[in-house]
Amino acid sequence: MEIVTTIAAVRDHVRRWRSEGRRIAFVPTMGNLHPGHVSLIEAARKYGDRFVSSIFVNPMQFGPNEDFAHYPRTPTQDERMLADAGCSLMFMPDVIEVYPNGSERATRIEVPGLSRILDGEFRPGHFEGVTTVVAKLFHIVEPDVAVFGEKDFQQLTIIRRMVADLCMPVEVIAAPTVRDSDGLAMSSRNQYLTPEERQVAPRIYQTLLAAAEQLRAGETDFAGIERGGIQALEGAGMRPDYFAVRQAQDLSAPGADTSHLVVLTAARLGKARLIDNVQVKK
Ligand code: PAJ
Repeated sequence: MEIVTTIAAVRDHVRRWRSEGRRIAFVPTMGNLHPGHVSLIEAARKYGDRFVSSIFVNPMQFGPNEDFAHYPRTPTQDERMLADAGCSLMFMPDVIEVYPNGSERATRIEVPGLSRILDGEFRPGHFEGVTTVVAKLFHIVEPDVAVFGEKDFQQLTIIRRMVADLCMPVEVIAAPTVRDSDGLAMSSRNQYLTPEERQVAPRIYQTLLAAAEQLRAGETDFAGIERGGIQALEGAGMRPDYFAVRQAQDLSAPGADTSHLVVLTAARLGKARLIDNVQVKK
């Protein structure tokens, strides 16, 4: 695996691979890799024959009171995990390489509507930061395929919309959420939990599964399911931001005949803010 820090070096590699007729698959990350990230590279294998992964903690997607400065950075471990997973190129730029004029007044990409609801309501500007950096990374890497985790379901939905709206020649692939054995979705932010909080955290997934079960059984009182979810998470000692039943396709409000639903939640537990979701296909 080659490790590069400049845009020019990424382009050199990609240009050479393209001239050899290779298909390029891309997995963007913020590093501090865990098996959930590795699963994206494994999923990418079906779609490409050269694999690029970026490791970049993107300042534009963090709010002023969020964890940008403290976000865990483990480049040596990340390098080993990517090499073991069969990644061809690791792109690890500095902030100045990605935002030569600073991130604050940089040109932005925004997906209106979708980026303002759910997590966007509680993290103003977050998804603009995500779409801006992903658009830039797509321009730098020019992949044929890019893989994103269903763990961040709203992010995946927004990126699909951006790609469609801007006619980007990238195929977006979704990979399923990888969980610890007790059901907690793997996340770099799980490290912020104390051992006691870590015991409680699987309640998020259990609460989502209970809601999914009700939906599968034909319940259409979506507001009742949402209230029940909030109460269950509060009862477990968490501070939920939202617990929402939506149409999986575009995160709009569902109707009684919606066949593909998603239940999404974000909850604070101690210092951590955890998100998760489950899909229901009827
Ligand atoms: P990050 O949180 O590092 O996640 C990188 C990718 O890994 C995302 O597509 C995310 O959905 C996926 N992922 C994280 N945990 C996962 C799990 N438990 N199972 C499956 N996939 C998982 O998401 C970001 O970074 C950033 O917003 C980024 C897209 C890189 C833009 O900065």
